[in-house]
Amino acid sequence: MEERRLGPVVGLGTWNTFGQNVELAREVVGTALDAGSRVFDSSPMYGGAELSLSVALEERREQAVIATKIWARSVDAARAQYTRQLGWFRRVEIEQIHNLLAWHEHVEWLERERDAGRIDRLGITHYSAVAFGELASALRTKRFDTLQLPLNPRERECERELLPLAAELGVAVIVMRPLGAGTLVLRPPPAEVLVELGVETWAQALLKWALSDERIDLVVPATRHPERARSNAAAGSPPWFDDEQRGLVKRFAA
Ligand SMILES: NC(=O)c1ccc[n+]([C@@H]2O[C@H](COP(=O)([O-])OP(=O)(O)OC[C@H]3O[C@@H](n4cnc5c(N)ncnc54)[C@H](OP(=O)(O)O)[C@@H]3O)[C@@H](O)[C@H]2O)c1
Repeated sequence: MEERRLGPVVGLGTWNTFGQNVELAREVVGTALDAGSRVFDSSPMYGGAELSLSVALEERREQAVIATKIWARSVDAARAQYTRQLGWFRRVEIEQIHNLLAWHEHVEWLERERDAGRIDRLGITHYSAVAFGELASALRTKRFDTLQLPLNPRERECERELLPLAAELGVAVIVMRPLGAGTLVLRPPPAEVLVELGVETWAQALLKWALSDERIDLVVPATRHPERARSNAAAGSPPWFDDEQRGLVKRFAA
């Protein structure tokens, strides 16, 4: 799989997938690692997914890049989340402030943790274009190394300001909802379109659509099916789509 600044370009999201189901987590996470994925995106918001992920990684922890989040209004609550994360993962490679929640407060103490070497990169996320102005303000402070936002053929607002800004500032970009939270895969195009795109599944076409923008470092599709984690990972290798192929994907995703 191709590697960009955060590692292999197809990771695994953990929202609404294995939750507290450790057995399922072992299957999905193990398959994703076997297929070459390394970055696992989680959050204290994801109903036990962080704990399940840590158990599923076991002796393979060193192969993984943990991209999790702080999601708390107060610094005390945030620190409690972070302490649990260090217990589960020993360190956090990418620590993101979830949905900009209390980010002015959290960035202070998180920077100290990064300086102490327990965090590699600090990031910020938001799921809604309504918050993109504030995401841009946060980036302009130059205190963040990564940015996570939605991008798929039906959600392209980030292309206007945030992707150019991230490129200008050297901030790595993580794409959430690359499959439109599952809505985009419901109506795949005819098989001959997939052949023309050189992919086996419509999900692969959507992932390649995002990764064909070189400003994108990582997509984190979520699935509870090991075989889908494997086939999604296969979208992480070139060749990438040209403008014509991207246009084709966009037409069928409309
Ligand atoms: N604010 C934030 O920071 C934020 C917000 C949203 C998301 N995220 C992160 O981004 C990740 C991805 O976003 P998302 O989970 O909302 O949406 P997504 O990855 O766009 O879509 C996930 C959905 O696609 C389905 N799917 C996955 N692979 C498939 C395949 N090969 N074929 C058919 N269906 C497939 C999954 O169903 P099955 O399980 O049945 O396969 C699931 O319902 C999240 O898990 C989370 O880690 C972060």
